[in-house]
Amino acid sequence: MTGAWSPSSWRNKPIKQVPSYPDAGRVEDVEKILRGYPTLVFAGEAQRLRRELAEVAAGRAFLLQGGDCAESFAEFSADNIRDTFRVLLQMAVVLTFGASCPVVKVGRMAGQFAKPRSSDIETIDGIELPSYRGDMVNGMEFTEESRIPDPERLHRVYNQSAATLNLLRAFAQGGFANLEEINRWTLSFVEDSPEGERFEKLSQRIDECLSFMRACGVTPQSTQQLRETEFYTSHEALLLNYEETLTRKDTITDDRGWYATSAHMVWIGDRTRQLDGAHVEYFRGIHNPIGLKCGPTLDPDELLKLLDVLNPLNDPGRMTLIARMGSDKVRAGLPKLVRAVQREGREVVWSCDPMHGNTLTSSTGYKTRPFDRILDEVRGFFEVHEAEGSYAGGVHVEMTGQDVTECTGGAHRITEHALADRYHTHCDPRLNASQSLELAFLVAEMLQKRRRAPAVELREAS
Ligand code: PEP
Ligand code: CO
Repeated sequence: MTGAWSPSSWRNKPIKQVPSYPDAGRVEDVEKILRGYPTLVFAGEAQRLRRELAEVAAGRAFLLQGGDCAESFAEFSADNIRDTFRVLLQMAVVLTFGASCPVVKVGRMAGQFAKPRSSDIETIDGIELPSYRGDMVNGMEFTEESRIPDPERLHRVYNQSAATLNLLRAFAQGGFANLEEINRWTLSFVEDSPEGERFEKLSQRIDECLSFMRACGVTPQSTQQLRETEFYTSHEALLLNYEETLTRKDTITDDRGWYATSAHMVWIGDRTRQLDGAHVEYFRGIHNPIGLKCGPTLDPDELLKLLDVLNPLNDPGRMTLIARMGSDKVRAGLPKLVRAVQREGREVVWSCDPMHGNTLTSSTGYKTRPFDRILDEVRGFFEVHEAEGSYAGGVHVEMTGQDVTECTGGAHRITEHALADRYHTHCDPRLNASQSLELAFLVAEMLQKRRRAPAVELREAS
């Protein structure tokens, strides 16, 4: 992959997962308007995330990335945004306090609207229609009209992303994330669960630490880190025409490079990571930190070639490799990728997506993910890294702050029959708030074990 790069050079490459819009002229009209819109994030913020991810690559921090599989227009509300943010904060506290490790927080939020699909066609009761590709492309309703791709949806995505990001910034910096507010982060339906109680004990200990620090003169008023948090946004950059309109040259920092300003971090999905394809072409030219999904079919040599193209200077913090093998494949499939990266001295963050390789259809007809398999993939991921002398640097999860029943299992033992109760996802099944916390406690224990001499014994808190 050589030749001149520009924000539109991807247009000369083969592309997968593109919607077939009935009217190309209308798409161009929308693109023209979007090109005039303000950026959503600023290059300096993406650079700061890159520096923080370099700390993860060096084994000094941990990455927590999570949010909806697909954001939707219908579920757009302040409460939903706040609740997902709250659970992510809780998970981050469990990891930070439990494992004495700084946690980089990245939401799958404020832009995660387009979905790659395994099949172009969906069939229900013998009727065939184009697949739903996320609210950014078409409607979920199973009608011919709703499934026609509509470019006007790109405007709505931009506007919803801007409003979501605005609220996230307010929550992160306006007082809600103040550690003294920790008791307000637990959602009422989680309070009486085992995870809720475990979190309550942890927050009591944090309160004690804060009282001690206050006595020493360190308070949220005097110390920004206690009062605010850094929270970043990310999504799969699937619709490159949308990304192109928001790809802007940095004119403020010394970098002067091109940035995807639709989010701080963007990633390439497992279905669009072809070396000579349009997505890799687009990503090679932007200076944001980027992710690459690594599924079981990825060959180690191909991974190295992708790293050559996407991170030729081997800059730590630029690449996050998001392994999504499946609990049955991670122990056999991941070592060869990790070894290739180690052998060639590539600087990457290794993160574990324990969701996408563990999807199945329940006997009751729902797309689901057994919580046990999710936990098992995370365990397998840590085992492989330990065996290979590599650093397991993060987790990437599909979760929500809502009390949904989409993944089976967990402390509430959601059964296949209970899935129908509150199954609301627009695409893949998500962890609910208590399952997310349960996962965070498990990861914190593994991080603690890795540290060997933990500063804080998490088990004591439970
Ligand atoms: C996703 O993260 O929602 C997704 C589609 O993942 P993958 O590309 O790994 O299948
Ligand atoms: Co998904």
